[in-house]
Amino acid sequence: MTGKNRKLVIAIDGPAGAGKSTIAARLARKLGYVNLESGAMYRALGLKAIQNDASFDDEGELLKLARSSRISLEPRVDGNRVLLDGANVSERIRERDVTEAASRVSVHPAVRAWMVDRQREMGKQGGVIMEGRDIGTVVFPNAEVKIFLEATPDVRVERRLKQRGADAGKAKTVAAELQQRDQRDRTRAASPLVPAPDAVILDSTHLTIDQVVQRAEELVRKKMGE
Ligand code: DC
Repeated sequence: MTGKNRKLVIAIDGPAGAGKSTIAARLARKLGYVNLESGAMYRALGLKAIQNDASFDDEGELLKLARSSRISLEPRVDGNRVLLDGANVSERIRERDVTEAASRVSVHPAVRAWMVDRQREMGKQGGVIMEGRDIGTVVFPNAEVKIFLEATPDVRVERRLKQRGADAGKAKTVAAELQQRDQRDRTRAASPLVPAPDAVILDSTHLTIDQVVQRAEELVRKKMGE
């Protein structure tokens, strides 16, 4: 397939709070693509570990749990509906304990390998925007478009507070949690959060959502035209 009919794979990576999910959902709508939030899969496994009282440090146990789980992502206009063993956990997985669990279970190479296999399967047809931490580096190293979405820590904290409807009094806690998670995501040995060498770095600190979507769309249209 050539030109406009080509179904591309678009990878969006970046730290928490940079706006990946929002941008991916909007861009998907514009392009008629499917958006997949890979982080939701790690969150679902984190929840499964909580439900089973499993240690976040026990790689073997976590892999066993992953293998016995049914995790599915259903793309919707405003994000993914997430099912764990048939139950809708879309809201539950955004809570603090699961956020922490996701970050901890995702450090294990065996867990990551299991996730990556599934993610490749989900995106192999093209026409997808997958967002996460290692999409452009590991999951789809041949993705036609790779965007690394950045924003300063202050702005990311502000966005998270807004998203949760939390007041400014919570800023310190949210900032500390975000920083800790960032640190873990960026420094883990297996697939740390780094931009792919061929990724376009998009700093959204001073941009509106519309502006970021517009830039991302320009990159995609350019690729489609090649
Ligand atoms: O994007 P998110 O905040 O929903 O991701 C939750 C956690 O999952 C995050 O702390 C890191 C991990 N993650 C990952 O390691 N690799 C991905 N591709 C996506 C998320």
